[in-house]
Amino acid sequence: MSQVVDIAGEISVVTAGGIADGRGPAAALAPGAQGVAIGTRLLASVEMGIAEEWKNRIVAAEARDTIKPAHSDRFMPPFSRPDACGFPRSLRTPFLEDVEAQPERVQPAEAGPRIVEAVLTGRGHEILPFTGQSAALVHDILPAAEIVRRIVDDVETILRRTADACTRSAPR
Ligand SMILES: Cc1cc2nc3c(=O)[nH]c(=O)nc-3n(C[C@H](O)[C@H](O)[C@H](O)COP(=O)(O)O)c2cc1C
Repeated sequence: MSQVVDIAGEISVVTAGGIADGRGPAAALAPGAQGVAIGTRLLASVEMGIAEEWKNRIVAAEARDTIKPAHSDRFMPPFSRPDACGFPRSLRTPFLEDVEAQPERVQPAEAGPRIVEAVLTGRGHEILPFTGQSAALVHDILPAAEIVRRIVDDVETILRRTADACTRSAPR
C-alpha cells in the first residue's frame, strides 16, 4: 500500500478487498489512501436488491466458505478485461462443485446463457453468489447508512486510540 501511494503521487488511492468494519479503512488510511471501496459488506444491507437467501448466506459464512471457482473460463467470459487473470470469489454452490469435479461436462455455450437467465430471473445466487472473504466479518443485515456510520465511528475510535498510544509512548 505504501508503495502504491508513493507511485500514485497526486492521484487519489482507493483501496478495496476485505473491508467490512473500521479496521480496514484505518489500515488503509494510515499509509496514505484517500478512500475505500466496499463490496461484500454492502451486499448484506437492507437496501441491496439481491435475494435474502444470498444475504443470509453471507452473514453465516466463514472466510473459507468462499472459493475462487475452478475452471471459470468454462462458464464466464474473461472477467472485466480481456487479459484479466483474476476472477471474483463466490460462495459454494452445487453448480460450482460440479464444474470443479467434472469441468468437461460444462459447455461454455450452454453455461453462459444459463447464468445470464438465472441472474435476470433473480436466481443468480443459486449458481454464482459473488462474495468476498470479508463475509467472515459480516454478522448482520443492516441499512446501508448504519453500516457506513458504524464503520466511520470505528475508524475514528481506532485512529484516536492509536494517536493516544503514540503520545503516551513518545519520549518526554
Ligand atoms: C457482487 C460482486 C460483483 C463483483 N464484480 C466484480 C467484477 O465485475 N470485476 C472484478 O474484478 N471484481 C468483482 N468483484 C470483486 C470485487 O472487486 C471485490 O469484492 C472488491 O475488491 C471488494 O472486496 P470486498 O467484497 O471484500 O469488500 C465483485 C464482487 C462482488 C461481491
